Amino acid sequence: MTPVKIGILGLGTVGCGTVNVLARNGTDIAGRAGRGIEVVAAAARDIERERDCDTSGIRLTTDPGVVVDDPEVEVVVELMGGTETARDLVLRAIDAGKHVVTANKAMIALYGNEIFERAHARGVMVAFEAAVAGGIPIIKAIREGLAGNRIEWLAGIINGTGNFILTEMRDKGRDFEDVLAEAQSLGYAEADPTFDVEGIDAAHKLAILASIAFGIPLQFDRVAVEGISGITREDVSFAAELGYRIKHLGIARRMDNGYELRVHPTLIPERRLIANVDGVMNAVLVQGDAVGPTLYYGAGAGAEATASAVVADLVDVVRALTTDPENRVPHLAFQPDALSDHPV
Ligand code: HSE
Repeated sequence: MTPVKIGILGLGTVGCGTVNVLARNGTDIAGRAGRGIEVVAAAARDIERERDCDTSGIRLTTDPGVVVDDPEVEVVVELMGGTETARDLVLRAIDAGKHVVTANKAMIALYGNEIFERAHARGVMVAFEAAVAGGIPIIKAIREGLAGNRIEWLAGIINGTGNFILTEMRDKGRDFEDVLAEAQSLGYAEADPTFDVEGIDAAHKLAILASIAFGIPLQFDRVAVEGISGITREDVSFAAELGYRIKHLGIARRMDNGYELRVHPTLIPERRLIANVDGVMNAVLVQGDAVGPTLYYGAGAGAEATASAVVADLVDVVRALTTDPENRVPHLAFQPDALSDHPV
């Protein structure tokens, strides 16, 4: 069978990671997907720049619209970040009948309801595993692995940059700004790192997780948000002296009259598993009524960890290409016509 041809928007950290993972593990991936996956086109801001991935054989352009409109491209992989332009390009791909894979949590949190509705109507998939908790397959775990449960609550460390900063402040007494600069150089941080340190990135991800877990529309604007920018080295070391770790958590809980969504720093006793999730690692606890508590752990950011989730979505999309649209796994647990207001 001929390989499925994909186009990538954005050849930054995750874009190059995806090219590398597809090249290195291509045979195994093709075995799992039922067909090979070939990157035929990619858009990048600077196509001359030297990169950490081999782009030979890929048509490069500075115009992402060229990739979306490329008749050979069957699946658009959006890894450029940002919200407005990314949304426009994703909708354009959907309108053209192309499946979309994205790692863009901000775009999904803000425009996901519209995007999924359009994709549903057009019969294409929009997959977004890489948008939450980097390489941890948490969306798949909730949507598929825990499909038999009523999810009661979930809580997690869902920003790798923030956790890296808190860990380095505690273990090495380093300055906040110094560790943030390192997180940026390692490709962990958002283009605008205030999203990481002010809790906005975690709030985007929490809105997505809550939507999947509770079957509610995306409601980012209803998340209570506090970041870690006010936390000092003294706070971190006093907490340690008292037997606690400061962790930034995203918490979503089913209540009697709606849902509670919040992200903020918390004090966690050091004997708890989640208190020992350090560095760029993420962890998400999910409580289901049948299964009880479950815990998912892995790298929350970084080139290949995030690419791992992007490629998993690509495998799902490739499998879906041979499935009747009516029988595909739905994008979200809720149906698009259930977009009425939910009390959060
Ligand atoms: N800036 C994000 C983080 C990247 O640090 O978690 C992964 O979503």
